[in-house]
Amino acid sequence: MAIYDTLGATYGRTRQPDPRIAAQIHAALGDAADVVNVGAGTGSYEPPGTVLAIEPSHVMLAQRTPRSAPAVCAVAERLPLHDDAADAVLAVLTVHHWTDLEAGIAELRRVARRRIVILTWDQPVFRERFWLVREYLPHTVALDDVRAVPIDRLVALLGGARREQVLVPHDCTDGFGAAYWRRPHAYLDPQVRAGISMFAQAGEDVLAPGLARLDEDLATGRWHSRHADLLTLDSVDVGYRLLVTDL
Ligand SMILES: C[S@@+](CC[C@H](N)C(=O)[O-])C[C@H]1O[C@@H](n2cnc3c(N)ncnc32)[C@H](O)[C@@H]1O
Repeated sequence: MAIYDTLGATYGRTRQPDPRIAAQIHAALGDAADVVNVGAGTGSYEPPGTVLAIEPSHVMLAQRTPRSAPAVCAVAERLPLHDDAADAVLAVLTVHHWTDLEAGIAELRRVARRRIVILTWDQPVFRERFWLVREYLPHTVALDDVRAVPIDRLVALLGGARREQVLVPHDCTDGFGAAYWRRPHAYLDPQVRAGISMFAQAGEDVLAPGLARLDEDLATGRWHSRHADLLTLDSVDVGYRLLVTDL
């Protein structure tokens, strides 16, 4: 069973594409006439020229709207497409889930004619800059220390890539890991956590002590006095990166 058949049941509720991040992704895709979206999930960030979405989870496929691109149930490691099938291939917040990263990236290179665009994150930067994992849930990210793909490894497999910072707006509409950096109460909401694989896979027992401390710090105002600087910012760089490879 695909992992998102378990994790993805409420994905559409908290994971709406953020327009500012969408604009950056679409700019990175440039003038690609046709795009294949791999690890496409519910269809977030698919540009209008998307000709096919590749997604292994039936639960995620079922949440795609009738207006989404056509989708097939398949994995990155074995794309059901011929060589040079599309101008560009897109993969958003998915490479860390692949069982064989090397095979998956080789498939992206085989299928893309001109460009590959990948959104991922730099785990050491994330760990250091994101207050939630640094101060409250350091053990939770142990899983991500293993599954996060080192940026340099990804760039090497891609045969080179341009790296862009992806800033997270304070009101980000896509509820991924650090999306609520300026809305700390959100992390106390089980539905929000269910949409974030780092937390969903860690399990509630592991999260409970850190979340109890966060709850208390929010109630006493300690969080707000410690993070007063954050409350003045509109966006932050906590390590999300766009990799753009021209073939
Ligand atoms: C965090 S979701 C991202 C979905 C979508 N790209 C987005 O930005 O909303 C990760 C997706 O990767 C998919 N996935 C997991 N393993 C995969 C694999 N081996 N090949 C392709 N996609 C995979 C999951 O099923 C899930 O839909």
